[in-house]
Amino acid sequence: MSSTRLAAERRSAELEQAVLAAPASFRILTGDRPTGPLHIGHYFGTLENRVRLQRLGVELIVLIADYQTITDRDSPAHLPADVEGLVADYLAAGIDPGRAVIFAHSQVAELNQLVLPFLSLVSVSELRRNPTVKDEIAAGGGSTSALMFTYPVHQAADILFCHANLVPVGRDQLPHVELARTIARRFNDRYTPAAAYFPEPEALMGTAPLLLGLDGRKMGKSRGNAIALAATADETARLIRSAKTDGERLITYEPDRRPEVANLLRIAAICRGVPAEAVAAEIGDRGAAALKRLTADALNERLRPIRGRRAELAGDRGHLRAVLARGNERAREIATETLRAVKELMHTRY
Ligand code: TRP
Repeated sequence: MSSTRLAAERRSAELEQAVLAAPASFRILTGDRPTGPLHIGHYFGTLENRVRLQRLGVELIVLIADYQTITDRDSPAHLPADVEGLVADYLAAGIDPGRAVIFAHSQVAELNQLVLPFLSLVSVSELRRNPTVKDEIAAGGGSTSALMFTYPVHQAADILFCHANLVPVGRDQLPHVELARTIARRFNDRYTPAAAYFPEPEALMGTAPLLLGLDGRKMGKSRGNAIALAATADETARLIRSAKTDGERLITYEPDRRPEVANLLRIAAICRGVPAEAVAAEIGDRGAAALKRLTADALNERLRPIRGRRAELAGDRGHLRAVLARGNERAREIATETLRAVKELMHTRY
């Protein structure tokens, strides 16, 4: 494990204590790309944690990163349906539209205008060193768009426009949070050295175990190896029946030697709130079929209320649109005030 990640995990544990002590002093900004239905990896990895933090009294701003999808997708025709679906997933999971702000960043011009001054605060070589950008350039063979190249700066605008001080993210997003901190610091140093304007946001890493896809690879919306939050109980059982396992009758929790079996055990364990070893012991020597049946039942049981709400919400598109419109409006108010202050500090108000 890298020392940066260890440090981030240690810091996250401290932040967790600070949140418990004074939830109202935190504002969370987090978000997702609207590239299809959210799956159980999202739910157990971050969504459930956002809902928990909201219930503790932390202010929650949830961003739908629709501009980010045009960095790597040619056809935007699915966007309206994907964005609506994302709002439905959020509400079904328990995000309270009466308290949280849910918005799409393409709808907030003032947020996007922050990208220009922020671009002036980072160098081309810093962006080239960003791990995500680096991977994209390597995969894109020279055709990487300039938007992809600069998207960590856009993400900094997503985080800083609302003065968020806490960003719950997965490991892969840590360099982006780090860049947002750098930009905040440099902006403050250059334009307002006496009194910081932007807080330096901190990453809050979840503690849930990483779930793999049903084929043992990283779970991904586009890989066909994920279970959508919105899937039916039958689809869920079918997908789990098709999961890769091994031929050993005795079920044991050995993540290194039997990663696929361990993954199913983790899914069942997280749903029931017990250790994976206890699930393994319960199955004993009844083999993979019993493991799959138990996992599907545990997951379906756990997701039933969420799916019930999700089905109702999907039937009320007007409500989903209204929640989003209200969130966009609120985000616009916040961004307008930030842009006004930024212009003031940059001496660009004439
Ligand atoms: N980059 C994130 C992802 O790929 C989505 C995202 C966009 C985001 N802006 C953000 C996450 C701001 C946290 C904060 O999933």
